[in-house]
Amino acid sequence: MNLDTPVTAFSTLIRTASHEQHTEAETSTFMSDLLGGRLGVDAYTRYTEQLYFVYAALESGARELAGDPVAGPFVQPELMRLAALERDLEHLRGPGWRSTLAALPATRAYADRVAECARTWPGGYVAHHYTRYLGDLSGGQIIRDRAERTWGFARKGDGVRFYVFEDIANPAAFKRAYRELLDRVPADDLEKQRIVTECRQAFALNTAVFRALGEEFPLSA
Ligand code: HEM
Repeated sequence: MNLDTPVTAFSTLIRTASHEQHTEAETSTFMSDLLGGRLGVDAYTRYTEQLYFVYAALESGARELAGDPVAGPFVQPELMRLAALERDLEHLRGPGWRSTLAALPATRAYADRVAECARTWPGGYVAHHYTRYLGDLSGGQIIRDRAERTWGFARKGDGVRFYVFEDIANPAAFKRAYRELLDRVPADDLEKQRIVTECRQAFALNTAVFRALGEEFPLSA
C-alpha cells in the first residue's frame, strides 16, 4: 500500500458510488406517488409482493453462504425478512395469498440476478445484501410511517412488518457495525470495484421494478 494515498473506507466508497442512483430510486414516480399518499393499498400490496421474490432469493441463498469468508459475516438472522413479508401478504391478500403471487418481469430479472450471485459470487451477494438491508433499516422506516398513515395499518403491525426489525434494538448502532463489516470485507481493490459496480446494478434493478409498477399504477388525472 502506498502510504501517501488516502484510503477511502469501503463503506464510504459503496455509499458514494450509489448516491446518485439512490436519489433516482427515491424520487421515482412510483415511490413519490406511493409516499405521497396518491396510490391505493393495491399498489402497496403489489410492491410488497415484488419484495417477496427479491427476499426469497436473498434469504434462500443465505444459509449456504453462512460460512463464506466474504458473504458469511453479513448473513445475520435478525435481518431476515421473509417471514415478515409472509405475514404482511397474508394480511394484505388474505389466506390464499400464495396462489396469487406473480412476479413482474423486472422483479424476475432482479431476483434471478440475486440468486445467481448467491450461487456463484459471494462479493456480488454482498452488493445486493447491502442495497436492500441497509436501505430497509434507513429509508424503510420512512416508508413504514407513510404506509401506516395512508392505509391505516396498525403501528408496526400486520401490513408493515417487513419494515420492523424486531431483533434490532438500535438500528443506528447496527448500521455502524454493518459498515465496519463492509470495511473489513476480505477483498482486493479490483474485487471491491466489482462489488461497487454490482451495487449500482442492484439499484438499477430496483428502479426497473419501480418503473414497471409505475406503469401498472398510473395516476388517473
Ligand atoms: C422513498 C424511498 C427511500 C427513502 C425515503 C430513502 C431514504 C434513505 C435515507 C434517509 C437514508 C440515510 C440513512 C442514514 O444515513 O443512516 C438511506 C440510506 C440508504 N438507502 Fe434509502 N431511501 C429510499 C429508497 C431506497 C431504495 C429503493 C434503496 C435500494 C433498494 C435504498 C437503499 C439505501 C441504502 C443502501 C442506504 C444506506 C446508505 C449507506 O449509508 O451506506 N433506499 N435511505
